[in-house]
Amino acid sequence: MTRRPLKIAPSILAADFACLGDQVVQAQAAGADMIHIDVMDGRFVPNITMGPLVVQAVARMTRLPLDVHLMIVEPERYINHFAESGAAAITVHVEACPHLHRSLEQIKAAGCRAGVALNPHTPAESIREVLGLINQINVMTVNPGFGGQQFIRATTSKISQLRSMVLAGGHDIDIEVDGGINSQTIAAVQACGANIMVAGSCIFKHADGIAAGIAALRRAADAT
Ligand code: DX5
Ligand code: ZN
Repeated sequence: MTRRPLKIAPSILAADFACLGDQVVQAQAAGADMIHIDVMDGRFVPNITMGPLVVQAVARMTRLPLDVHLMIVEPERYINHFAESGAAAITVHVEACPHLHRSLEQIKAAGCRAGVALNPHTPAESIREVLGLINQINVMTVNPGFGGQQFIRATTSKISQLRSMVLAGGHDIDIEVDGGINSQTIAAVQACGANIMVAGSCIFKHADGIAAGIAALRRAADAT
């Protein structure tokens, strides 16, 4: 089996918002593969963060694909706004979508890659019936809402289960991990079959700067 290429997706949740454009430019120059944007509404998760205006602003600063992670209730009300704002991929939470199939079709109709995120307690089985519509799965490796939390190791078995389900079904799907990813945890999730690594704190808050944070992650990952 050929492994899917490793992609690093810096999460701007951990960036310095006073100079967000510059931080995105630095991440791109350091070899980031995409920019991860965490949208929170104070309803689905306790925190409130950014909306389409921020996506538009980031889009003006980079040519990298924008990976928009919607941690909001009723995401179907906003999917088109985020697509028009420059999202390349839009991820909705299975827990927030009673009509998940329809929401995924909406994302694709808007011209974006379709993603589904699973909270740590949500079983892999919950998305089996929509695998044919998905381009990427976000396995939350912390409870969504905040950056800087500790990686939940129990989520690794779900990554393996999802990778097996995807392979068995012959689907072309990336598996993204999100939360607590750093030099200590990246190899374990990669070994389970994850290939898109979302990382906020260990990149934007790295003592030696953004480029050093991305380089450290790549070093810790298994490049073979
Ligand atoms: C959490 C967000 C993550 C977060 C990860 O709800 O979805 O994308 O930014 O941050 P770190 O890497 O600091 O755990
Ligand atoms: Zn995220």
